[in-house]
Amino acid sequence: MEAASGLRFGVGDRVQCKTSAAKWKRGTVVALRYREEHWPPGTVAPYQVQLDAGALIYAPQDSECLVRADDGGEQLDSGAEVHVCQAGPCRRAGGEAVLLEIEEMANSVGGVVVQPSGCLGNCSQAPNALVVADASERIFARLCNLSATAEVVERASGRAPSLDDPEMVSRLQRARRLRVRMEAREESKWNLALAGLAEDVQAAPSQEDRLELVQEHAQLLAAAGFGEKALEVLSAVASSDEPSLQNVPHLRLLLDQAKTLARLGRVADVEALQSRVDRLKPRNARESNIKAQLVQLLRETIHEVATQLGSSPRIQGYARWRLDGITPVSKHSAVYRFRTDDASRGTPIRRGRGGRTVWSKTWHVTLLAEVGEGNPEGPLPWLERDYTPISTAQDWESGRCDILIKIYLEPPGLATEWLHGACGDARAAAATGGGRAREALVWLSRPAK
Ligand code: FES
Repeated sequence: MEAASGLRFGVGDRVQCKTSAAKWKRGTVVALRYREEHWPPGTVAPYQVQLDAGALIYAPQDSECLVRADDGGEQLDSGAEVHVCQAGPCRRAGGEAVLLEIEEMANSVGGVVVQPSGCLGNCSQAPNALVVADASERIFARLCNLSATAEVVERASGRAPSLDDPEMVSRLQRARRLRVRMEAREESKWNLALAGLAEDVQAAPSQEDRLELVQEHAQLLAAAGFGEKALEVLSAVASSDEPSLQNVPHLRLLLDQAKTLARLGRVADVEALQSRVDRLKPRNARESNIKAQLVQLLRETIHEVATQLGSSPRIQGYARWRLDGITPVSKHSAVYRFRTDDASRGTPIRRGRGGRTVWSKTWHVTLLAEVGEGNPEGPLPWLERDYTPISTAQDWESGRCDILIKIYLEPPGLATEWLHGACGDARAAAATGGGRAREALVWLSRPAK
């Protein structure tokens, strides 16, 4: 672009502008001899420049110390910062993986400082990151995929990171799912942990990885109370080959198969597996040792059958609660009162040394909203929602839990809509009389910090 007489750059030229003592930013000249209305007559700035991050600035002098030509080569420190929330709700929603993704993409474009941060005050839309650039701040919420995190980096650096490398994209996606899964398992959020896992099994880079993922898939299904589905997943792999004492990952699947069968009370099937193991011929001391351990574990598994027969399937980490009443608080919120005598409900109170009581300052529970098939949040027929009870820890120990729940109408919240509907049906049944009212039952998790 040809410059106006006396100026070094013309409209459209790429330049770097000094925006603070040590920072240069890239931009494009958009106007020459720029002036603003309130400036004294005759005062002009040689250039108006649009920075790559979007802001419009002007250069007060046509000096190499303030504006210089940009050849696109060297990477500039834009001075932009990205703070990625690593506090509870964001971490549970994959905040660690978001941090990893943003770090990796920021490295590829350069000039952005990325750091972990505490709560950004937007927990209901986790995971979150805050971009501080060009003297302004903006929160990016629900960073649930690579395009969303790429947008954060683009806002901070002014340059869109490339998502063209399929290997990098799939590595980052796998890393994110792995971290989300680890957190979800910790919190007994089986649906969240299972989301995308079947696809990961299909895309496993090696047979060893595939077997590990199959095992995890089946364990999660079994923990969620879907023993038959867990068996299907295991049988598809474990039954296709004869067990071999050289193939330890395969033997692990066989053991999981036996445990799942045992929990379903299928003693004959466990015994059939045991006979297959009995027929294995060890070729050395190591294999003899493996076989002995396997036989012992199968024996213990069969013993478990006797203790579990007749018990109804459970969701690991959860107890059944009954809705005892609803007290409206406002047009869009109500206190839901739950009651239970299920001994597996756990407690928010920890007992320290010598029986000393240790109170958790904050604790929450997860409610399963059983919305049925076609659930957008995972393969299981429920949504998992965290709530902080307004009742006390002692109430919980006595089987009482009160939760203040907001009813989101616009747009309708799936979980609260379900809760409202399911509990409304139960209330209506009670109001019409005619014997015992149908009870609304819900699963609440053990208390978590
Ligand atoms: S936990 Fe991340 S915004 Fe609060």
